[in-house]
Amino acid sequence: MADIESTGETKDFCLDHPARSEPFFLKGSNSLDWGMQNRLSRIFSPASGKTVMLAIDHGYFQGPTTGLERVDVKIVPLLPHADALMLTRGILRTCIPSSFGRGIVLRASGGPSILKELSNEEIAVDMEDALRLNVAAVAVQVFIGGEFETRTVHNMTRLVDLGNRYGIAVLGVTAVGKEMVRDAKYLRLACRICAELGAHVVKTYYVAEGFETVTASCPVPVVMAGGKKLPELEALKMARRAVAEGAAGVDMGRNIFQSEAPAAMIQAVRKVVHENATPEAAYQYYLSLKGK
Ligand code: R5P
Repeated sequence: MADIESTGETKDFCLDHPARSEPFFLKGSNSLDWGMQNRLSRIFSPASGKTVMLAIDHGYFQGPTTGLERVDVKIVPLLPHADALMLTRGILRTCIPSSFGRGIVLRASGGPSILKELSNEEIAVDMEDALRLNVAAVAVQVFIGGEFETRTVHNMTRLVDLGNRYGIAVLGVTAVGKEMVRDAKYLRLACRICAELGAHVVKTYYVAEGFETVTASCPVPVVMAGGKKLPELEALKMARRAVAEGAAGVDMGRNIFQSEAPAAMIQAVRKVVHENATPEAAYQYYLSLKGK
């Protein structure tokens, strides 16, 4: 039986401690619901506000990409170093241990292979399956200026409606059509459209001129895509510049899994993203890990 008399005398209401009301650590994300913020905290480190997301979803349109031929052998050993993992549900279910505790960002658009017009995408995942997989976010390609621009924007807005309903974030990926010039003017346009239409996070490429205007004019976190394989020091310089110019981290694929030493490279990327290390210091760290 409950001891009502004695517990009544020992309660502590901490009357000298006002209730805390702290802003959420990601820009543009204060008004999101608890579940969405919790999921975003599985992608971005609350300590640094940034992410080192490992992108391995390339097979959804180009098959067994170099470095991803055997995800179970080559990628699973990298998982302890990734804040989040971006991939398809096929690879998630077949190759990734369900004990992985960080954020899953699920590729949710697709359709054409590399042999066809890439912007001709549809939504490729039901939100119910995304929930079943306990993902933190879904990712959708948005081809601003591409042949099927409107369809890809509509794919994103439908996922945003469903994501808002269930508390799953949407990562809008600004994909550059064949004819488009990849410069700050284009990326400002593409990123802003994604954010205006509801994306909770935007992923885009780095450009040497004016990247800070891309991040400044996008009201939600921007993460930098890696792009084609570069020499390791160059990739570290690009990641450092992107973060210094306002990116909330990176979502890198080929520059990690096509590195001569992927485990060393992802740890070096962590140095520049989370610890503000110089690219040169991070490169030395890469070399020291590679040599072991
Ligand atoms: C490509 O379509 C995928 O969305 C990749 O996740 C993205 O391009 C990032 O990978 P990478 O760093 O290799 O460019």
